[in-house]
Amino acid sequence: MISITRFPALATGLALLGTLGASAQSAAPASLTVQVNKPGAAVNKNMYGLFFEDINFAADGGLYPELVKNKSFETDARLMGWRALGGGANLDTYAVRNEQGINNQSNPHYLRLTTRNGAGGEAGIENEGFRGMGVKQGGEYKLSFYARRGAGDISGLTATIVGQRGENLGQVAVSGFTNEWKQYTAVLKATGTQNKAHLKLVLNGTGTVDLDVVSLFPKDTWNQRPNGLRTDLVQLLKDMKPGFLRFPGGCIVEGRTLSERYQWKETIGDVAARLPLINRWNMEFRHRSTPDYYQSFGLGFFEYFQLSEDIGAEPLPILNVGMACQYNSGELAPMGTASTKGGPNAGTAPHDHATDDPSLDMFIQDALDLIEFANGPATSTWGAKRAAMGHPAPFNLKMIGVGNEQWGPQYLERYVPFAKAIKAKYPNIDLVSSAGPSPDGELFDTASKRLGELKADYIDEHYYAKADWFRQHVDRYDKYARGGPKIFAGEYAAQSGAIGSQENKNTWDCAISEAAFMTGLERNADVVGMASYAPLFANVDAWQWTPDLIWFDNLNSYGSPSYYVQKLYALNKGTKVLPVTMPGGAKNGTDNLFASAVTDEPTGEVVVKLVNYSTSPRPVSINLAGAKGLGKTGRAQTMASDDLQTQNSLKEPKKLAPQESTFAVKGSTLSYTLAPNSFTVLRVPAKK
Ligand code: AHR
Repeated sequence: MISITRFPALATGLALLGTLGASAQSAAPASLTVQVNKPGAAVNKNMYGLFFEDINFAADGGLYPELVKNKSFETDARLMGWRALGGGANLDTYAVRNEQGINNQSNPHYLRLTTRNGAGGEAGIENEGFRGMGVKQGGEYKLSFYARRGAGDISGLTATIVGQRGENLGQVAVSGFTNEWKQYTAVLKATGTQNKAHLKLVLNGTGTVDLDVVSLFPKDTWNQRPNGLRTDLVQLLKDMKPGFLRFPGGCIVEGRTLSERYQWKETIGDVAARLPLINRWNMEFRHRSTPDYYQSFGLGFFEYFQLSEDIGAEPLPILNVGMACQYNSGELAPMGTASTKGGPNAGTAPHDHATDDPSLDMFIQDALDLIEFANGPATSTWGAKRAAMGHPAPFNLKMIGVGNEQWGPQYLERYVPFAKAIKAKYPNIDLVSSAGPSPDGELFDTASKRLGELKADYIDEHYYAKADWFRQHVDRYDKYARGGPKIFAGEYAAQSGAIGSQENKNTWDCAISEAAFMTGLERNADVVGMASYAPLFANVDAWQWTPDLIWFDNLNSYGSPSYYVQKLYALNKGTKVLPVTMPGGAKNGTDNLFASAVTDEPTGEVVVKLVNYSTSPRPVSINLAGAKGLGKTGRAQTMASDDLQTQNSLKEPKKLAPQESTFAVKGSTLSYTLAPNSFTVLRVPAKK
């Protein structure tokens, strides 16, 4: 196996690059021409999308709003997240057992508590949540759990949401425990707002009781769904009008070893029966280690398809191609059907291959089954499972990714049978293939060449690089051959420091550089079909990787400047590219001026995007050549800051966000002054 350290090609590339110095600007306006009468390539209507990965507590402790950590006592450290009240002084037994659990296969472990005879005080347990629990005054929280009474007279328990100073923020008593497992539910109404509360369960009576699947879930979820998603975070996603939603990653698809890979079949069906799996990001970065990071899969593949539908994004699942993460073990599934374990039915039902030694055919079968789960009729094997979960209509899946960020001959040899099998059964599904972790170098070139020969639909390119790399590579796709595979810029983000460094910040310098680079994506919409920033989410108290698009704590959230750049592109993507001539016929980016333009055919508007990466205001005159029926008033959306280090935060969530204004349109040449360090989108009404 080729050994590769994290993004070495990027690091080397950066060292070789010079910087484009900002030269002094003349006071005369810089003249640009937009050929309104020469519309070119169509912009993919799904061009700007989202990349979701469960990194930085993006799922549990984030988008998936379950408040109880390790609700089923199934994580490797069985009592993670729990502690006995009073250090267990009032308990004889505080232990996880696995005889006669709720379900010996899917949920074998539970917690047994026995009160200490004659001890006074409260006997019970507490759950800490995900860096605490966020509750809102007046908000309702559904408590549910399974209980089974043993010897003694424990009739029930009292559940309390406890604030940081020990105050009672809502309480309910639940009774009627019997000798059989039974589910109990109740609703707690919060009397205060706090983002670091916790849940306390006090036993009523003395004796033994077994508890399992303890959940505290907000009633206020997206579309008010039980097991639904966190509303503020979904709203931020929806506001972007994303074209697609890539899921579940990211390296999490691959796992550090194959047994830790993401297996979609283990994430559907009854939520209580989804076994948790260690999150591969838990210890990846020593400086940000989170040993309590697991995937509960409460946000599984059904919820993912539903979310895509809710926010109007095309789903883009990325599947494991029989390779564990090449930054870790690089473990490979053997080609074909060879498998040292997996019996004849291996891979056909949930939970049967977690401990297997699977062959590539099993991975391919998983991919075919996923397509059936998404699109098959409710009468098909996997379509029936979707229907049983409440969605008889197909999700209309159109794309699937074969592998995440893979590289080398092992990837290419696995991609071929994968693609062949999927295309044979589902010829209309577009496949996304990987060009590896770096945007250049030998591995990249070999993969791109071979995938071109194989007539891949999309090639997924990743670039995490310093901000100036983005400005300097604005012409990257000008040089690509036309007619080959489409490019999916599937993961990118400008870094303020070294890649993987905890010092990276979501600065305006990064975001404006992404905006500059994206003029190059837009100008090359005939080559670049999709683009997504990565990663998407980060919990301010539990992140591993920075920078990220959206940050949140247990109650609040905000978009970084990069979020607003992505949003401006997505909301102003138009339908066809318009050719732009830069001042003096120079290259895009000369003098740190960047521009692209599109027409929005349904409204007839001309949309011009301009980046002024300089500390001076820059007057421009834009000739809208061949434009007809121009309106009198244009609309500008501007992001600008004198300080390139500006960031948003929970305290100042919109310190840097688009500002709207109007401007007069007099004739077909626009005069406009771009603010220092600004990204501006001009929309000019014109005749359709
Ligand atoms: O976005 C973070 C990681 O960067 C992704 O998981 C991986 O694909 C890339 O290396």
